[in-house]
Amino acid sequence: MTRPLREVVFVDGVRTPFGKAKGQYAETRADDLVVKLIRELVRRHPELPPERIDEVAIAATTQTGDQGLTIGRTAAILAGLPESVPGYAIDRMCAGAMTAVTTTAGSIAFGAYDVAIAGGVEHMGRHPMGEGVDPNPRIVSERLVDPSALVMGNTAENVHDRYPAITKERTDAYAVRSQDLAAKAYADGKIQPALVPVATRSAELGFGLATTDEPMRPGTTVDDLAGLKTPFRPHGRVTAGNAAGINDGATAALLASEDAANELGLPIKMKLVTYAFAGVAPEVMAVGPIPSTEKALAKAGLTIDDIDAFEINEAFAVQVLAFLDHYGIDQNDDRVNPYGGAIAFGHPLASSGVRLMIQLARQFEEDPSIRYGITTMCVGLGMGGTVIWENPNWNGEKKGAA
Ligand SMILES: CC(C)(COP(=O)(O)OP(=O)(O)OC[C@H]1O[C@@H](n2cnc3c(N)ncnc32)[C@H](O)[C@@H]1OP(=O)(O)O)[C@@H](O)C(=O)NCCC(=O)NCCS
Repeated sequence: MTRPLREVVFVDGVRTPFGKAKGQYAETRADDLVVKLIRELVRRHPELPPERIDEVAIAATTQTGDQGLTIGRTAAILAGLPESVPGYAIDRMCAGAMTAVTTTAGSIAFGAYDVAIAGGVEHMGRHPMGEGVDPNPRIVSERLVDPSALVMGNTAENVHDRYPAITKERTDAYAVRSQDLAAKAYADGKIQPALVPVATRSAELGFGLATTDEPMRPGTTVDDLAGLKTPFRPHGRVTAGNAAGINDGATAALLASEDAANELGLPIKMKLVTYAFAGVAPEVMAVGPIPSTEKALAKAGLTIDDIDAFEINEAFAVQVLAFLDHYGIDQNDDRVNPYGGAIAFGHPLASSGVRLMIQLARQFEEDPSIRYGITTMCVGLGMGGTVIWENPNWNGEKKGAA
């Protein structure tokens, strides 16, 4: 049998507005957030017969309760997809949704699927980080990893230790930039098109409608951040201001083979070039995006200079700066997270990978001089993930060239 490799495209992506843990989604189920998004993707694409969806892959880090029971399948049933459409659950912690995309994309390229929904959810209010985990004692007793590796904020402090040039002043300045750019992106209407309002209810407050990202703190200044506590280490550098918070939210993307997209008349927002995941020492997990990007670039035959747009997850500002310093990119470079990042919007762990893709697709739409872009993120227990995308609207010019 011949098996031609097929091109994979990102058709569309949507997300819920993100919430603060114990905030707007305090009494909303995690699976209901996903259901809302699956329904919305189907609603936005009447050209797609729902029975043509070959898979629903949904990530969650904590897969119990309303995030358990094979959430891709349960959410598909609850969303009213035909019962013939299967689904499953995925976990790679923060890179859950990214892995849902790369895994289903691999299946599309291989020819097993034509169309898939891939996304993620994390209700960190209902499922605190580390809920119910039972790490094998050998991990620590045999010094397989440093004990600090199990608390993400500690790993961020470790990265500060490793790179003294990344000062708290720099991470705070980067956090202010993220808040400023996110506020501007909202004012310019760049974020809202992908947001799916979610009806909420609260025993105390009654019914409501979540339409915006609750964690945002527009107007934050470096002076506001300078005095914040450093919860992970006395006299440390990581604070609530230069880290992503504890958040609730969900994302979902529609992927297809290029052939199926053309056959069905589905739009193409991005073309998948390649992807890679890589491991690093768990106690400095935040440097993971460096080797995963190296690996992905090598596979694609590209260099960092070919990348005109970056969407880097901001779990911690120090992690973004470690990546940018490695490549000699200025922390104010306008190719980096131009619509703000997780420090402002929030980081509901397993959902964030598709938020990055949604924002990269927006960059592609807005600027046809961008040819290639990457989405990249660090992952707990010492990993990085990078996906390289190509802009279908590319106009043949080099971004920034005179
Ligand atoms: C850093 C962290 C511990 C802070 O948690 P928290 O203390 O509950 O955070 P809060 O939102 O209450 O903020 C703490 C304080 O900072 C203040 N603050 C936070 N962001 C601020 C900002 N941008 N400007 C001004 N003040 C700010 C808050 O108002 C609060 O002040 P208060 O103590 O006077 O009420 C938590 O957000 C965290 O663990 N983040 C990392 C999540 C993570 O590991 N994700 C996985 C990544 S791999």
